[in-house]
Amino acid sequence: MAPRHVVFELAESADVTRLSDYERAGGYESLRKALAMEPAQVIEELLASGLRGRGGAGFPMGRKASFLPKPDQTPKPIYLAVNADESEPGTFKDREIMLRVPHQVIEGILISSYAIQARAAFVYIRGEYLTEYEVLRTALEEALDRGLVGANILGSGYSVTIVLHRGAGAYICGEETGLLESLEGKRGQPRTKPPFPAIAGLYAAPTLINNVETLATVPRILALGGENYAKLGVENSSGTRVFSLSGNVARPGNYELELGMSLRDLIVGIGGGVPGGRQLKAVIPGGSSTPVLTADELDTRLDFDSMARAGTMLGSGAVIVIDDRCCMVQLALRVAQFYRHESCGKCTPCREGTRWMVEIIRRIEQGAAGQGELDLLLNVCDRILGRCLCPLGDAAAMPVASYVAKFRSEFQRHIDEGGCPFRGTSSLEGVLAPVDEHHARARARIEVPA
Ligand SMILES: Cc1cc2nc3c(=O)[nH]c(=O)nc-3n(C[C@H](O)[C@H](O)[C@H](O)COP(=O)(O)O)c2cc1C
Repeated sequence: MAPRHVVFELAESADVTRLSDYERAGGYESLRKALAMEPAQVIEELLASGLRGRGGAGFPMGRKASFLPKPDQTPKPIYLAVNADESEPGTFKDREIMLRVPHQVIEGILISSYAIQARAAFVYIRGEYLTEYEVLRTALEEALDRGLVGANILGSGYSVTIVLHRGAGAYICGEETGLLESLEGKRGQPRTKPPFPAIAGLYAAPTLINNVETLATVPRILALGGENYAKLGVENSSGTRVFSLSGNVARPGNYELELGMSLRDLIVGIGGGVPGGRQLKAVIPGGSSTPVLTADELDTRLDFDSMARAGTMLGSGAVIVIDDRCCMVQLALRVAQFYRHESCGKCTPCREGTRWMVEIIRRIEQGAAGQGELDLLLNVCDRILGRCLCPLGDAAAMPVASYVAKFRSEFQRHIDEGGCPFRGTSSLEGVLAPVDEHHARARARIEVPA
């Protein structure tokens, strides 16, 4: 079950933050290779690789890049926007990649910029990620000094500027159009689509937006060749992914796995299962916005299609393990509170609906809800789903509706018994807890299973 190729050398004990170390390990060779190709050929390699976005939606990167006009088809400059906002609760892989292999991120940005002939690339990095920003900035300065970034890169005639931009702590700024608004100095709120960013993105110019992990995978694709990369993983889900494993699991951490392994392989085989003799109750497979799976669904495979068949998503690759101490109503409350707090307020169903969700769930948890309120909660979820400009509303409604669907009797008991059946013994310890805590543990545990 070990990956045949590893995209991120995170298993190594030392971080490869210095340019000289990265180059010694073959770093920037893929950039040289790309610069010797036509930009269209680079996009062909991306298409052949089948690489799908690692930020959440899983859109094929090569296809997205091919939607952009060529420089001679537009009077505007072309841009690349790098989504380093990483705010989906449970997700802590991009920070690991930026901290440990920053030059791989930069190389991926450069190759992708060249493929679309971008004049500038903007890295939108989560405001809380100060150390990651510093590491990336130092790496960027080294790359600039070496002529890898800026004017006439490696004498190729191609020039691109990379700009680092720190966010200020808003989940909505991870949504691609909210990110663009924020980059332009406006309030981070989603835009109406179409036009899509490929046509009218940053400053109304054609813009490719990709996640850190997606872009950092690109050098490896160039090194292996798109077709070879596509042999990794399974159909429709090629390659490897870095999964952020957290929650009630013995060995939490970031693990790079070939797509198509099962949740059981990851949680039990690699993560050591649920500690302390407790029982597995549920798994959130792709970050807080994804519908939950039960312990019976542990054999679901970690690939896009298998997750869709199970009614959920791979999302951001954040696998959150939940044991039998967890009250699902309390979990629903925690999730709903997050989305209510992060709703930007632009769309009424999301702004008002998330508030309603919190109020109803709180009443259920406190034993103050009437018999009709579970259906009212589902009704509110239904009235949010698909009715907002961006998927933040869906991200609130989908998981909560799934908790009710799969653990309805537990919700019902709260209403019937006039309070939480756990009687104060439930615990959400480690589940969707602050990311720093997970990360502190994850840092020591990055490994590729042998
Ligand atoms: C509310 C919301 C928050 C998001 N946050 C992030 C994020 O923090 N990082 C990220 O890469 N994508 C995030 N996304 C997904 C982006 O909108 C977009 O799909 C992604 O950056 C595209 O890159 P990819 O194709 O490489 O995955 C978010 C989406 C939504 C709706």
